[in-house]
Amino acid sequence: MLPAPPVPPLPESLKIGIPSVDDEHQALLDHLDSLMHSTGGTLDVSDFAESLSRLNRQLIDHFTSEERLMRTLGVPAGEFARHIDAHSQVIEQITQLSFDLMKRKRISRDQVLAKVKVWILGHLTEYDLLLRR
Ligand SMILES: [Fe+2]
Ligand SMILES: [Fe+2]
Repeated sequence: MLPAPPVPPLPESLKIGIPSVDDEHQALLDHLDSLMHSTGGTLDVSDFAESLSRLNRQLIDHFTSEERLMRTLGVPAGEFARHIDAHSQVIEQITQLSFDLMKRKRISRDQVLAKVKVWILGHLTEYDLLLRR
């Protein structure tokens, strides 16, 4: 197997400007990138559950630190509530996907990657960039 190409650094357009958050986002994008360069047309429990559970832990840790930070930034209450709700939904969905994979449901690689992309990149652009001010 060819080594995965190097991961590009987080573009300025995706930076919040808070180094601890940007570093965690970089790590999440690296994870997404490594999944995108994994091989195989279908993902099942044997080749993917481990990676998904690592991603789950990584996301839970990240969301926890991001929420702690938001409390110190004075984010408006409505935005704060929506953002926390979005974090919960991501964790719910990733847990559901883990169960589906455990039940040996065959899920295509593209379907999984599309979901992971929404959880990481979609969430970053829709919610996290609002913290940039
Ligand atoms: Fe977030
Ligand atoms: Fe984030």
